[in-house]
Amino acid sequence: MDRSEMRRLVEKVTSLPTLPGSVTRITKMLDDTDTTAAEVGREIEKDQVLSAKVLKLVNSGFYGFSQPISTIQHAMVLLGFNVVKTLVLSTSVLDMMSNSMAGLWQHSLACARTCAIIARFLDLDDPEEISVTGLLHDLGKVVLESNVKEVFDPVITLVKEKDMLFYKAEEEVMEITHATVGGWLLDQWQLPGQLVEPIMYHHDFHPSRTHALRTGVVHLADILVRAEGFGSGGDRRIPVLSEEAMKVMGLDVDDVKEIMEEMTDEMRDMMR
Ligand SMILES: [Fe+2]
Ligand SMILES: [Fe+2]
Repeated sequence: MDRSEMRRLVEKVTSLPTLPGSVTRITKMLDDTDTTAAEVGREIEKDQVLSAKVLKLVNSGFYGFSQPISTIQHAMVLLGFNVVKTLVLSTSVLDMMSNSMAGLWQHSLACARTCAIIARFLDLDDPEEISVTGLLHDLGKVVLESNVKEVFDPVITLVKEKDMLFYKAEEEVMEITHATVGGWLLDQWQLPGQLVEPIMYHHDFHPSRTHALRTGVVHLADILVRAEGFGSGGDRRIPVLSEEAMKVMGLDVDDVKEIMEEMTDEMRDMMR
C-alpha cells in the first residue's frame, strides 16, 4: 500500500459522516465564533453517551484537576473550545484505545500529564491544549491496528523479531508512521495546526516548523514516559532525544531531572 492509498484509507475510516450526527453538529457549533460555551455545553449534554464519554475523559487523570469536573460547560471553561472539540471528535478512536495494544492507554495518559508538566515548566500558553496532543499523540496506532491489519501485523512482527523501535518498523513496512496517520486524522477533522503538528512530527522533530516548540514538548514527554516505564508504546526501546528539540525548548539536563521528579510524583498519584 503506498502513501496516497494509505491516506485515502485513513480518511475513509475516520471521516465525519461516519461519526455520530451529534458529533458533526457539535463540531460545527464549535467552529462558529459566535457560539458560547453554554450553548455548546447544552448541545453536548443532549447526547448523554457522548457527554458521559467526554466527562470520563476529562476526569480520567490526564489533567489532574483536584476536583472532578461534573458538567460539560465547566469543562469548556476550564479546558477551552479546542480541547473539548478534540475530545468530542476523538471519543470513538479513544474508545478503541483501551482495547487496543496493551499499555497504550496508560502510555497516552502519562504522556498527557507529562506534556502539561513540561508546558508549565516552560511557562507556555495553553497547557491544556498541549496536554491533549500528548493524550492523542499515538492515536495513529489505534487507527492502523483496527483498520489496516495487513500493514499493522507485519510491523508488530518486525518490532518483536528485531527488537526495533515501533516507528522504525513502520517506516520499513509502510514508509510512513503512526505519527503521520494521526496527523492526517486530526487534519481531516480540521483541527488547528498547533494540535496537528505536534502529533504529526513527534518522532521527526525539526526546529524550523511552525509549532516546533509544542512538538518538542510532545517529543520529550513521550521519551520520558517510556524511560520511566509508564505504560507501553508497543516496543521495548526508547527513541533518541532530539538535541534540536532541547535547544528549542531551552532545556538542559538539570531541567529534565526536575521535570522527571515532578512526573514520578504525579504518576504515583495518578496510578492510585
Ligand atoms: Fe509515537
Ligand atoms: Fe508514544
